[in-house]
Amino acid sequence: MLSNNTESANQAQANDVIKQCPYRLGFHIIPSSGWMNDPNGLVFHDGLYHAFFQYHPYSSVWGPMHWGHVTSKDMVHWQRQPVALAPGEEGISFSGSAVSDNGELHLFYTGHHWTKQENDWQNFKQTQCLATSQDGVSFEKKGIVIADSPLSHIQDFRDPKVWKEDGKWHLILGAQDNGTGQVLYYQGQNPEQWEYQGVLVEATEAEGYMWECPDLFKLGSKHVLAASPQGLPKHGYHNLSEYQCGYFVGEFDGQSFSHSGFTEFDVGHDFYACQTFETPDGRRVMQAWMGLPATLMETQDNGWAGALSLPRELTLDEQQRVIQKPIKELEGLRRAELLSLQNSEIEAGHHKLDVQGELLEIKLSFCLQERTAERFGILLRCGENREQTMIGYDAMAKRIYLDRNLSGHVQGVRSTAHDGSDHVELHIFLDRSCVEIFSDTAYQTITSRIYPSESSTKVNIFSENGKVKLKSLNIWQLKDIWHP
Ligand code: FRU
Repeated sequence: MLSNNTESANQAQANDVIKQCPYRLGFHIIPSSGWMNDPNGLVFHDGLYHAFFQYHPYSSVWGPMHWGHVTSKDMVHWQRQPVALAPGEEGISFSGSAVSDNGELHLFYTGHHWTKQENDWQNFKQTQCLATSQDGVSFEKKGIVIADSPLSHIQDFRDPKVWKEDGKWHLILGAQDNGTGQVLYYQGQNPEQWEYQGVLVEATEAEGYMWECPDLFKLGSKHVLAASPQGLPKHGYHNLSEYQCGYFVGEFDGQSFSHSGFTEFDVGHDFYACQTFETPDGRRVMQAWMGLPATLMETQDNGWAGALSLPRELTLDEQQRVIQKPIKELEGLRRAELLSLQNSEIEAGHHKLDVQGELLEIKLSFCLQERTAERFGILLRCGENREQTMIGYDAMAKRIYLDRNLSGHVQGVRSTAHDGSDHVELHIFLDRSCVEIFSDTAYQTITSRIYPSESSTKVNIFSENGKVKLKSLNIWQLKDIWHP
């Protein structure tokens, strides 16, 4: 058995620095202090939802990885748990997944070992490891279950996603073979013994040099392979972040996966390394890291960094696109309804709404038939120094967009295609330093961090160079689950 020293990590976690920070998120999974990245081991086990995450409790920058752990009865209200995995003989604990089987919780993760010196990304060894738990809180490391990559020159060999089906265990992971991204496939009769089956998918030239965090699951009548490829070329509105997070839809015949082209899940500035799991009632739910390796994180000076996106339910539409909707349980975050408007004509200009807030849920519906405006939408976190976060529809480009150029400390505009229907729907979750935009009239989401001043809390509605009909607008105040 390998060592698992989580004690000092728990002491670091107990230092709850986040409550001092104006950018602390109120209803997203965040660390109490330190750095976090990818969601790991999303699973329902013994009556509770578990979310683990890549965690460095000792500072607000990436470092020797642990697995942080939170649990929830409803995927909305989360409770911190002791750190699940700490670095050990097998290396530091990289990303992976969880399977609940026969009352036991199994964590599969990558042991990452620097072979020359720490943080030398040319020289390392990655193995796949197992840890189990009876109570879902304390984990016993069982050691390495896949010791070597199938070809000795493959170093990047990580992020096992495991599932059990037809009495067999299945495992995929991300790899890089001489600059080509791959997903490798294994099967096992039990969680400790694995047999290599082959390359499940290999990237074409334009599909990246490494695929991190692959995930394969059934959705409707198809299979979906989600992954976070690195090295995709930027073009037009696509692949604008440094790395991407998206999916391929296809057929999995038990050996290989034939598929269509790559589509990004989310076109915002901060969405990466997603993972999915199946809820007891059969929904496929996804969460991602609201961040990317090299993005600016204003919170780092305040002792923490990183967060998970809200859980999203996935379905496949008729055009075989993956549609994401906020899970219905999130209605449990609602406090007072602050505003409800129907059928109102928005004249050209900016109009103040009688609403303020840092934690809001907003639903908007606009009618395009009576529109003359060139752009219209809503402005959040408005305040002094022209601060604002703009979310709207551009009728010339026919795109739903987020403009965070005046959001504080960050820049950029991101957008996604509108579906061409005669209305525009927006469903927005605003937390203290992020915004997540869903739309029934688009098939991608937009997730970005923002860092406005604490005093910028006003909400305005706008219509540029013309008018537009607002069919409905509802705004709710949301709860702070960490510091109610
Ligand atoms: C993705 C990733 C994974 C790796 C982990 C390390 O963000 O690079 O491939 O396991 O993060 O923290």
